Amino acid sequence: MSLVTTKDMFKKAYEGGYAIGAFNVNNMEIIQGITEAAMEEKAPLILQVSAGARKYANHTYLMKLIEAAIIETGLPIAVHLDHGDTFELCKSCIDGGFTSVMIDGSHHSFEENIKLTRQVVEYAHAKGVTVEGELGQLAGIEDDVNVAEHAFTDPDQVEEFVSKTGVDSLAIAIGTSHGAFKFKPGQNPQLRFDILEEVQKRLPGFPIVLHGASSVVPEFVQKVNQYGGKMPDAIGIPEDMLRQAAKMAVCKINIDSDLRLAMTATIREYFANNPGHFDPRQYLTPARAAIKDMVKRKLVNVLGCSNKI
Ligand code: G3H
Ligand code: 13P
Ligand code: ZN
Repeated sequence: MSLVTTKDMFKKAYEGGYAIGAFNVNNMEIIQGITEAAMEEKAPLILQVSAGARKYANHTYLMKLIEAAIIETGLPIAVHLDHGDTFELCKSCIDGGFTSVMIDGSHHSFEENIKLTRQVVEYAHAKGVTVEGELGQLAGIEDDVNVAEHAFTDPDQVEEFVSKTGVDSLAIAIGTSHGAFKFKPGQNPQLRFDILEEVQKRLPGFPIVLHGASSVVPEFVQKVNQYGGKMPDAIGIPEDMLRQAAKMAVCKINIDSDLRLAMTATIREYFANNPGHFDPRQYLTPARAAIKDMVKRKLVNVLGCSNKI
């Protein structure tokens, strides 16, 4: 098995009423935990790399680690640029072997977003790479950008955006948001399924993407705080709502914060119980296992993509 694009994955996911998990990767243990879970569940997989991850771990290291995971697991894996913000960044990832890129022009005007996205699509498609665009803006923190309020996707814009840009998938804003603090205490988490339904009507058969889809699993927030952390009222998206979206037009669901939380909670617990240890292998072993467990939970409870290879 080698790297694949998202095209075939999304077609099958749309028809099958499930979604593909897109998990952010930054180092070897994260890649191993995710891919071991997907292998055991026989699930197709997207590993996504942010600009920050590329800066942290280096493009070549990440590519080679992912290649190693493909050799070890035999899984079909797409390598995707998460939140590309310039043509140059997308080009660099395409030239460096990514099979999919996101060009996130959502902070620009509608016209500028179309122009930038079209430029990336032309370059990417000539090289057989798939492209995700975005319309609407999620609240929350992502890299250095902090958006206070949702700008929900306007269904009236989606057909024009897709036809003028030629994108292969579209990320929309329906109330998910980046990071661990998606809702305020006392708030009842809700997603705008009416927008998703309307988008689905306007773009029949077209794959939709949800960012900011961590559920911020409470037991891990509690564990972080039990072992010396300070995470005030972290609230995420209920898993059953994401499962419902995955049965609709949503074919890709992005999850990062839940993995960060699982890893950090586990390492905190490890050091609380083993204060004298200092061999990184000792605390990274349970951390990697926690990533694997969390990914399995998502593949089964949220994505519904077990046994879809
Ligand atoms: O949406 C953003 C992802 O969670 C990646 O975060 O830019 O800190 O790597 P990062
Ligand atoms: P979370 O912060 O909810 O995990 O979202 C991740 C994401 O959207 C990456 O693009
Ligand atoms: Zn995102």
